[in-house]
Amino acid sequence: MLLKRTLTIAFMVLFASSALLAQNYKYIGAAKCKMCHQKPDKGEQYKKWLEGPHANAMKSLSSDQAMEIAKAKGIADPTTDAACIKCHSTMGHIDAKLAAGLKAEEGVSCESCHGAGSKYKSASVMKDREFAMENGMILPTEEVCKTCHNEESPTYKPFDYAEKAAQIAHPVPAK
Ligand code: HEC
Ligand code: HEC
Ligand code: HEC
Ligand code: HEC
Repeated sequence: MLLKRTLTIAFMVLFASSALLAQNYKYIGAAKCKMCHQKPDKGEQYKKWLEGPHANAMKSLSSDQAMEIAKAKGIADPTTDAACIKCHSTMGHIDAKLAAGLKAEEGVSCESCHGAGSKYKSASVMKDREFAMENGMILPTEEVCKTCHNEESPTYKPFDYAEKAAQIAHPVPAK
């Protein structure tokens, strides 16, 4: 009984301190990930992202369709309004003080899904999955996607994880 309670408290302290640490991770921007994640034999994740929907999510906010949606909601400029950029740009859903290299134009950048990279970006940390995760790296699951792919999206389409994940897949090829 006592042991159980001690363990519970130990876990609570552990979680509280990791939550505090999490706030120190800074968002470094996709250009930094590009340095190591653009080689074709390693899966060219940067190129796949750049050509996919997420890197282009800010561009969609300049379309006629975006202007129409915004107008109906009484929003003057969808490209800067928090109500739109909160899902269309990593910058829109983080504490601005933690941006260190990240740009709003990047749209939904690597770090929206993989976590702020300042502490895991070095090769020695990155090549060790567990160590990278201890330093803020996330291997996203459906829950991460649904922070944006939900009914709050004015153009919401039902989200089938397996299907949508396949559309944006950028695996490291098996050796
Ligand atoms: C200094 C080089 C370097 C930089 C910079 C870098 N990575 Fe990596 N990353 C690696 C290496 C090496 C691996 C191991 C897998 C491999 O060989 O491709 C890796 C693996 C990963 C993995 C897969 C982890 C796993 O175990 O499946 C993710 C996700 C990832 N990186 C995301 C990022 C993101 C996001 C950024 C930018 C914030 C970034 N990386 C920056 C070198 C780097
Ligand atoms: C930070 C918000 C955010 C997160 C997190 C996010 N997305 Fe998206 N996603 C968007 C936005 C915004 C668009 C629309 C881009 C555009 O066309 O302007 C989009 C578009 C897409 C599209 C193309 C349009 C469609 O619905 O078919 C796919 C596929 C997709 N996302 C898959 C995913 C998957 C899989 C995940 C989780 C691994 C994910 N997304 C996480 C914001 C996000
Ligand atoms: C809760 C997250 C979220 C918010 C808030 C959001 N969007 Fe989106 N937006 C998405 C996602 C996810 C997509 C991809 C398609 C889908 O599932 O809606 C998208 C797609 C779009 C598209 C492209 C539609 C297409 O099919 O090509 C436009 C235009 C757009 N959004 C405009 C806006 C505008 C304007 C606002 C602000 C009034 C806004 N969005 C707010 C998440 C969001
Ligand atoms: C919309 C969310 C999303 C964005 C944006 C995104 N990724 Fe990923 N990434 C994923 C998902 C989902 C996986 C698969 C995770 C798994 O296998 O558990 C993944 C896997 C990876 C892997 C590991 C591949 C493997 O086979 O081990 C690397 C490396 C990676 N991403 C790098 C990047 C880089 C670099 C960027 C930006 C240029 C980026 N990702 C942008 C969702 C995203």
